[in-house]
Amino acid sequence: MSARDKRLYLEDLTVSFDGFKALNQLSLYVDPGEMLCIIGPNGAGKTTMMDVITGKTRPDSGTAWFGDSIDLLRLSEPQIVAAGIGRKFQKPTVFEQLTVFENLELALAGGRSFLKTLRARITSEQHQRIDEVLEIIGLSDQRQSLGRILAHGQKQWLEIGMLLMQNPELLLVDEPVAGMTPHEIERTAELLTSLAGEHSLVVVEHDMAFVRSIAKRVTVLHEGSVIAEGNMDKVQNDPRVREVYLGE
Ligand SMILES: Nc1ncnc2c1ncn2[C@@H]1O[C@H](COP(=O)(O)OP(=O)(O)OP(=O)(O)O)[C@@H](O)[C@H]1O
Ligand SMILES: [Mg+2]
Repeated sequence: MSARDKRLYLEDLTVSFDGFKALNQLSLYVDPGEMLCIIGPNGAGKTTMMDVITGKTRPDSGTAWFGDSIDLLRLSEPQIVAAGIGRKFQKPTVFEQLTVFENLELALAGGRSFLKTLRARITSEQHQRIDEVLEIIGLSDQRQSLGRILAHGQKQWLEIGMLLMQNPELLLVDEPVAGMTPHEIERTAELLTSLAGEHSLVVVEHDMAFVRSIAKRVTVLHEGSVIAEGNMDKVQNDPRVREVYLGE
């Protein structure tokens, strides 16, 4: 590749667990502001790929660059967060005893101490950012609600909001709609779509109707490698993809 103009470059990544290759020469790229959807059967390596990007798992070989100057394989997990990569895990980790607003306030502080953060006065600029994020995630009316009374979908959106407080350039989202109602799924599609452009996103999801509703470009992983790439119609009609999913 000549021009290094992508947000994320993964090239020839291999990760082995006891000789088993969870990633096998995986290469993929994400453009600035793009939302890339990743699908693939269980065990395809989707979560492992996110683990490599976030520094949780180190590959045996290959490269991972964030933009053209940040070598992710040389950074620690906190350094990767600080560089602008936010990751949403499947299980929400919002603080149940704190309000929605306080959860966002805490996320603003990153790793700083819990009590210190809540006692400190936030600036009007920070207050404004929290208001903005509340609007984006659709929880303005729930700002004073405790985390524990939120519906499953609302917790997931709050957690996305908590990531947004750090203003990450790249957001990694693993199975965001698992366990959601149809209405929550629709709302999540709108939310993620609204984030693209401003942020790059990598979204892993098994729910094909959801992926179809948000995806422009879809990458299909199987046995640790990319087996197809393109728009949803293209990959769903791909013979290898059909074989992997349907045993055709
Ligand atoms: N820490 C680990 N130790 C050993 N094997 C692992 C480890 N993490 C993942 N694996 C294996 O690597 C393969 C890829 O797992 P991974 O979780 O990345 O798949 P996935 O595509 O996210 O699947 P799913 O759709 O079920 O979430 C699987 O066979 C899994 O059992
Ligand atoms: Mg997974």
